[in-house]
Amino acid sequence: MNISVAILGATGYTGAELIRLLESHPHFDIAHLGAHSQAGKRAGEVLPGISGELASTVLAASDASIPDHVQLVFSALPHGAAAESVKIALDSGKKVVDLSADFRHKSHDTYREAYGAEHPCPELFDEAVYGLTEFSRSDVVNARLVANPGCYPTSTLLPLVPLLRGGVLNSEQIIVDSKSGASGAGRAVKTSLLYCEVNEGLSAYGLPRHRHAWEMEEWASGFGQQHVSIRFVPHILPMSRGMLSTLHLSGDKPETWHNILSQAFAHETFINVLPEGQLPSTQGVKGSNRCDIGIAVIGTKQAVVVSCIDNLIKGASGQALQNANVMFGFGEAEGLSTTALWP
Ligand SMILES: NC(=O)c1ccc[n+]([C@@H]2O[C@H](COP(=O)([O-])OP(=O)(O)OC[C@H]3O[C@@H](n4cnc5c(N)ncnc54)[C@H](OP(=O)(O)O)[C@@H]3O)[C@@H](O)[C@H]2O)c1
Repeated sequence: MNISVAILGATGYTGAELIRLLESHPHFDIAHLGAHSQAGKRAGEVLPGISGELASTVLAASDASIPDHVQLVFSALPHGAAAESVKIALDSGKKVVDLSADFRHKSHDTYREAYGAEHPCPELFDEAVYGLTEFSRSDVVNARLVANPGCYPTSTLLPLVPLLRGGVLNSEQIIVDSKSGASGAGRAVKTSLLYCEVNEGLSAYGLPRHRHAWEMEEWASGFGQQHVSIRFVPHILPMSRGMLSTLHLSGDKPETWHNILSQAFAHETFINVLPEGQLPSTQGVKGSNRCDIGIAVIGTKQAVVVSCIDNLIKGASGQALQNANVMFGFGEAEGLSTTALWP
């Protein structure tokens, strides 16, 4: 029998991407679509990309109760707004994959520092599993609550963790320079995201310390089992989706790092370490759940590693579905594509 799911925040970019992915999933059925300012409208009025029965579904208010038969909730709400809805869903016996940052940290102090707010239910921090699937599937399988990683941390941690585990990096001198498509900032209206502000331009933001820097350092240190410092600079690019992170790394024997990465991901469906000499592009992963990784060795002590994902798929809704597949014992790749929309 299929599993009924709810999507909270269905009218946002990641919510819409979840609808698209779940519609063709063989084992999950969408039973509830939640919204906030758009509640009461039909989904098709707000989301141009859907049709048929789903388009005529009335969007539920954010405080509406979720039907009893729903077993899994995808929460695609802004951080801060997500925590209480997640707690209510858990209390009513449902499993949750939360796409927001509300349960990505293990300490209340770190959450407060990164997000500048008190957390309403820090008692759930211990239970939440950080769902960077390739490194946490043995915990995800038994989880009630999965904290889906942020898009910048996903593109950074995937290549970084194997190198940290290999003991070859200078873990105190890591620079991550990332570029994101404008959908990374969500659908809410912001002046800095107006067409004229983004088009034909490139700008850095979030300095001196973007909130994802805390997440990257916490989980690079955790998965990599050593203290890690990261200087992180994000940029917005005039494209709808896609993310490219350039990691400037130093350490020992960089000529061996390609092999370390290739070995680490040899059996992973969604992680593609490119042949030596090739670097990835956002076009190569758009629409897929893949992360493409390339490396260029620079001298005897340094290398640049470039990693690309689709911020809305491996960086959000695709990884959320990958985690949900693991939580319910389905094939991890069900409903997810390794092939990009290209050109
Ligand atoms: N965009 C990305 O690439 C990306 C990647 C990784 C993680 N994330 C995280 O995923 C979550 C959703 O991101 P998004 O880009 O999809 O955001 P979004 O496009 O801004 O959508 C936000 C959704 O939440 C609803 N909402 C807004 N304020 C709310 C509130 N106070 N209470 C309840 N619902 C509220 C909105 O409903 P209405 O439209 O009805 O107002 C909308 O459905 C965020 O936490 C984000 O940080 C996003």
